[in-house]
Amino acid sequence: MNSLVGKRCTITGGSRGIGLAIARLFAAEGAACTLIGRNMESLTSAKESLEQNHDTQIHDIASFDVSLVNGWEKLMADTKKENIDILVNAAGISQNSFLFKTSTPDIDKLVATNLMGTIWGCKNIVPRMMRQRNGCIINVSSLLASHGGRGSTVYAASKAGVVGLTRAMAWEVGRFGIRANVLLPGYIQTDMTKGMDENGELSALIPMGRLGLAEEVAEAALFLAKSSYAHNCVLNIDGGLSAT
Ligand SMILES: NC(=O)c1ccc[n+]([C@@H]2O[C@H](COP(=O)([O-])OP(=O)(O)OC[C@H]3O[C@@H](n4cnc5c(N)ncnc54)[C@H](OP(=O)(O)O)[C@@H]3O)[C@@H](O)[C@H]2O)c1
Repeated sequence: MNSLVGKRCTITGGSRGIGLAIARLFAAEGAACTLIGRNMESLTSAKESLEQNHDTQIHDIASFDVSLVNGWEKLMADTKKENIDILVNAAGISQNSFLFKTSTPDIDKLVATNLMGTIWGCKNIVPRMMRQRNGCIINVSSLLASHGGRGSTVYAASKAGVVGLTRAMAWEVGRFGIRANVLLPGYIQTDMTKGMDENGELSALIPMGRLGLAEEVAEAALFLAKSSYAHNCVLNIDGGLSAT
């Protein structure tokens, strides 16, 4: 297993939830993290929380909307001398409406954030990793990419796209020493699932009997970051929900 000491890691959605849990664990393993999100206040407090515990690394933040390619282009221009060893695409938004009731702007925003945001991240950072002849990409999809779910058609389509993107890219980039893997979390306790399990009905559907923790997804991401032969993994981390 490789150490993350000295590695530079870019994490979208790093201000909260799963992205922040990954940043915390990667920082604890020695990585320096650049956190990306839209809200500057939550990015700043996330960076402070990393620095309180891991003040030996220099962490950074960048505030932009991942669905807009020019944000990515600016990030690449601003960091052109830096290596980027690990890219985690965790920024995402959810849906809770039937397709026929979902507005056109909301559909656009779901696809633009979850799928296009991941495509832009990979398109912009892969050339940097090719230059280094080394890199690791971890995309965060969802169990809903492969399992049906009411009220999540566009979300599911965007996340299935992330799986397709990752697998096709694994073929393209492996020969440059770049690994590409994708996580499929089930239901994880974050802002995204707030209020979804108030009466325990959701937990009752999950073989492990509870929602997962962001830290548990971060452990799976750490395995993908460290294992030098993990490439094209499609890794469920769902408390067994995919078995039902
Ligand atoms: N929680 C679950 O049960 C679950 C299950 C399966 C998959 N996932 C996936 O896991 C990832 C993280 O989810 P989470 O539960 O941690 O969600 P969360 O707590 O709501 O956090 C979402 C993160 O994404 C950022 N973000 C959202 N839209 C963005 C945009 N357009 N540009 C830049 N940053 C953006 C948010 O920051 P700002 O709002 O400041 O931009 C925040 O940092 C998502 O891709 C989600 O689909 C979650």
